[in-house]
Amino acid sequence: MNQSTMNGNTAAAGNTIDSHTVLYGVIGDPIRHSRSPIMMNRAFRETGVNGVYAAYHITADKLGDFIAGVKAMGMRGVNVTIPHKLDIMKYLDEIDAGAAAIGAVNTIVNDNGRLTGYNTDGIGYVRSLKEEADPNIAGKRIVVIGAGGASRGIVYALTGENPASITIANRTEDRARELALAFADKAELRAVTFDGLQEACLEADIVINTTSVGMHPNTDASPVDASWLKPGAVASDLIYNPLKTKFLLEAEKSGCRSHGGLGMFIYQGAYAFEYWTGQAAPVAAMRETVLASLG
Ligand code: ATR
Repeated sequence: MNQSTMNGNTAAAGNTIDSHTVLYGVIGDPIRHSRSPIMMNRAFRETGVNGVYAAYHITADKLGDFIAGVKAMGMRGVNVTIPHKLDIMKYLDEIDAGAAAIGAVNTIVNDNGRLTGYNTDGIGYVRSLKEEADPNIAGKRIVVIGAGGASRGIVYALTGENPASITIANRTEDRARELALAFADKAELRAVTFDGLQEACLEADIVINTTSVGMHPNTDASPVDASWLKPGAVASDLIYNPLKTKFLLEAEKSGCRSHGGLGMFIYQGAYAFEYWTGQAAPVAAMRETVLASLG
């Protein structure tokens, strides 16, 4: 029985914490900056799910103890953030194929003590890109700047959308080449140095920044010159602080469509919510809450 039927109230009336309330949370180190609790508790309130979601500061030496706690207390779901997305994997009973290919877990589902790890970052990004910028990624030429953890999840998810090609440009070329090789069987992938970035951007339909270049407080930096982009192309940035980076602002001036990083955060959470509850996530309400918290 969910909270709304127990109380006889509408779902939006709010959570009542009672003896049926199920625990959820996010772990990381540091964690106090996280906006996941406000977003997820809003989602529970909207849908009438009797759950409560908190942030736990867990250091690397306490991961095993935390997992024992998840099982002992029957926590239904956990999000995992920096720096634990890799190290958490050895404590889980099963790793979803996508998370295994990416090599990182950001969402744990607890089915009666059996823990499965998923990665919702990449699919969250792609859902946000499709909902907010371009519903049709199939056949598109994509440039991804950066080859770190975030890029890996996104490139993996993009390969599932049948793009014409994905070009990965990274400051350290070896990392770009490694990433292109890792998923070479799934799509037309190639790696270039930053020297090859301009040429790649000239013919790209979608250019995605996965690096921290342009993030607060270094908001005056941009990973590419917007004049390199085709008018009408999508400029996409994973950064959401600021909501519109210099890269996006300049791309808009050059006649491009811009796509900011907030949607990726919202949709990675939406997928986690859906895995845990089996219900559609109230995405608009989640976005409203996070936007309000960003002021
Ligand atoms: P994340 O999980 O956010 O992707 P990461 O794995 O540390 O973090 O990867 C950071 C990415 O941003 C890398 O591609 C990094 O380039 P290098 O592989 O050359 O280090 C890129 N990056 C970070 N700062 C950068 C900068 N100032 N200029 C260009 N690329 C940068």
